[in-house]
Amino acid sequence: MKRNDLKITEALKNPILDKSPEAEKLRSRVLNLVEEYFRLAHAPTPFVPGKDPIPVSGRVYDQLDMQMLVSSSLDFWLTSGRFNELFEAEFSKFLGVKHVVTTNSGSSANLLAISALTSPQLEEKRLKPGDEVVTVAAGFPTTMAPIIQNSLFPVFVDVSLPTYNANIEALEKAITYRSKAIFLAHTLGNPFDVDEVRRIAKKNDLWLIEDCCDALGSEYRGAKVGTFGQIATFSFYPAHHITMGEGGAVVTNDEELAQIVRSFRDWGRDCYCDPGKDNTCGKRFATQHGDLPFGYDHKYVYSHIGYNLKITDMQAAVGLAQLQHLSDFIKARRERFETMKDRLRPIEEFLILPEATRGSDPCWFGFPMTIRDGRKHDRLDLLRYLEQRRIGARLLFGGNLIHQPCMAGQKFRVSGSLENTDRIMNNTFWTGVYPGLSSEMIDYLAESVTRFFNDSLR
Ligand SMILES: Cc1ncc(COP(=O)(O)O)c(C=O)c1O
Repeated sequence: MKRNDLKITEALKNPILDKSPEAEKLRSRVLNLVEEYFRLAHAPTPFVPGKDPIPVSGRVYDQLDMQMLVSSSLDFWLTSGRFNELFEAEFSKFLGVKHVVTTNSGSSANLLAISALTSPQLEEKRLKPGDEVVTVAAGFPTTMAPIIQNSLFPVFVDVSLPTYNANIEALEKAITYRSKAIFLAHTLGNPFDVDEVRRIAKKNDLWLIEDCCDALGSEYRGAKVGTFGQIATFSFYPAHHITMGEGGAVVTNDEELAQIVRSFRDWGRDCYCDPGKDNTCGKRFATQHGDLPFGYDHKYVYSHIGYNLKITDMQAAVGLAQLQHLSDFIKARRERFETMKDRLRPIEEFLILPEATRGSDPCWFGFPMTIRDGRKHDRLDLLRYLEQRRIGARLLFGGNLIHQPCMAGQKFRVSGSLENTDRIMNNTFWTGVYPGLSSEMIDYLAESVTRFFNDSLR
């Protein structure tokens, strides 16, 4: 906990509400009690192999996170407020991007990113119904869903192993005169081949949107993911690198795009006042908007068919505390990944181990493995074996998304073969590398995977 951080110390007080010294003292007492409660109720217990679970992911927090949550609850502002403002500023500083727009999930961030690109404000550059957006089929459903939700056409390409990211040759071949955007996730934290993807996007005048939901802190040639496309998205669900419970963000360096994203997030409104504020533009009753009567209250003018996807200040308060831990979290994920890889190298004859994309330094979300011969070593048997040992494992999300029930009757195009995507659907799984896993847990995990394969030789 870095309480000396001035911003955090300020957030744990509220000079406007805590008008009297008594109120100020009471807030401080409540927060001290929260710290005491954290130590009694939430402190980690020693790990017992085979008895205690080894999850793939989970929230990692300390007394600061709980104090921030309680401090925001004492404000009782509830909607986005001072904590959100601070979070957006700190997150933008961390990434090195100009604009951060928080939202209530990574899926909402993806929806906002794609919806923003359909804005009439973008004129010729806007995405129109039927335009193609190139993506991969080996991924999470809500990277793809907003493409369909916006009446656009997903085009699926294959991925490469062992990076699990878009195959560049396939991506290039998928581009047609109807292609208008590339929307790719940095799979499980491993950055896609940014140089090549940007080259293709530039050459074909395409929007590039990065889904960084699993990749906060990952870098490519020394710059953070989220800074390469025109728009990028993040998730703060408990499984991810930092959490707010539910939460996400859209980031961009483009002021117009940021304003459009905010509009879609906030009911589609034209006005950009923060909650509780009026007349930020100074022209609240002094403008002609469309066919509305002159001077129609700007607060009730809508320039987009929007949503309400804002977060509460309580979520932002937890996010702010999580940002204090982020550099430790990133280091811990990288260390756990390296340990797993070292431990599993002796069984590489059975498993394809993950590789970072050339030029990248991933902050891995998980440790993906692909069984080389799925007929001899059945993935289901392995997952059951791990489950018996209380070890969590996951599939690479939707496997091959085109085979998911939700895709029946949907319009999409597949470009080239999806051979590796099918391989992933059948033979890939991943285990945790999150900071909540102790070295004993990682040892037990690696030993269990090794034992499964070595036992099969007997
Ligand atoms: C790549 C990717 N994109 C988007 C999401 C959606 O994020 P959320 O769960 O916050 O909606 C996820 C969820 O894990 C994801 O892995």
